Amino acid sequence: MEDDVLQKILILGASGLVGKALIEEIKDVCDLYGTYFSSSVTNLPKDKHFKLDVHEVSKLKELIHFINPDAIVSCLRGDFDRQLEFHKELASELENSKSRVYYFSTANVFDGDYSRHHSETDEPFAESEYGKFKINCENALKEKLNHRAVIIRIPAIWGKNSPRMNSIKESIENNQIIDVYRDLECNNLLDTQLAKQLRFIIENQLTGTFHLGAVDMMAHGEFFEKIVNAISPGKSILKFNSLSETGNTLYWGLTSNRNDIPDFLQSTNQDIISCLLSQ
Ligand SMILES: NC(=O)c1ccc[n+]([C@@H]2O[C@H](COP(=O)([O-])OP(=O)(O)OC[C@H]3O[C@@H](n4cnc5c(N)ncnc54)[C@H](OP(=O)(O)O)[C@@H]3O)[C@@H](O)[C@H]2O)c1
Repeated sequence: MEDDVLQKILILGASGLVGKALIEEIKDVCDLYGTYFSSSVTNLPKDKHFKLDVHEVSKLKELIHFINPDAIVSCLRGDFDRQLEFHKELASELENSKSRVYYFSTANVFDGDYSRHHSETDEPFAESEYGKFKINCENALKEKLNHRAVIIRIPAIWGKNSPRMNSIKESIENNQIIDVYRDLECNNLLDTQLAKQLRFIIENQLTGTFHLGAVDMMAHGEFFEKIVNAISPGKSILKFNSLSETGNTLYWGLTSNRNDIPDFLQSTNQDIISCLLSQ
């Protein structure tokens, strides 16, 4: 970070899983602002916390003029077409500024090719509408902002209090079946670890595309199995399915061929599980 001047950062989607983890990680070292949509639960002071719908492009522009942020982190959800339009407008608004955008994308940009895991240098190829939409957002930002658009692709994000973890606990309590895949190899990431990695990227002004995720891969079903067995040994609520029609293993991991995120910020899938299960 530059000398003693705190970077001003606007988090779009500050009330979500990723946004909240990021606030916890950088609230003492940055001048933080954030937006929410339906639930204003964040750790931001009221005067730095704004309601914003992806439909409200003019409000986004007002916020940018008011805050004049050094960086904007986009961790939004919402209607795909609206979000794409929103990010196009965001890129136009910042085109002649020095602000950077950190855009959260997804492993789904590769869901059209399960033949191997994918690194940052692979060309995205999506089959799902979600994956295609994320590729379009990535491109819209890069087209206008070039190296000031930093793309952060992430796998499934877990946290002690995340929707995924809460849903497993609820299913255990209510004896509800959880569908899992035995033939899908992928990685995962903790919300807190992701926040530390993004902090490192921001503080060191790293640019380009990043694949963040556990350094190893695990079968989708095995990841769930380890969690369920630890919370409720002997409970049989997992239904193991096959995703592949050919019997081949499907590979959906995000690998990285960058070496600028240090080892102490990396984790394995087992580290993630241990952390989720710790008190
Ligand atoms: N979580 C994952 O496993 C995962 C995996 C891959 C990629 N991603 C990507 O990472 C980003 C963050 O994910 P997340 O899990 O933190 O999402 P999340 O928990 O669902 O949070 C989404 C944020 O967007 C806001 N939002 C929802 N609808 C909106 C709308 N119509 N207009 C404006 N804001 C709206 C939410 O506000 P309220 O909560 O106030 O309604 C919240 O602040 C997303 O772009 C997602 O696609 C996430």
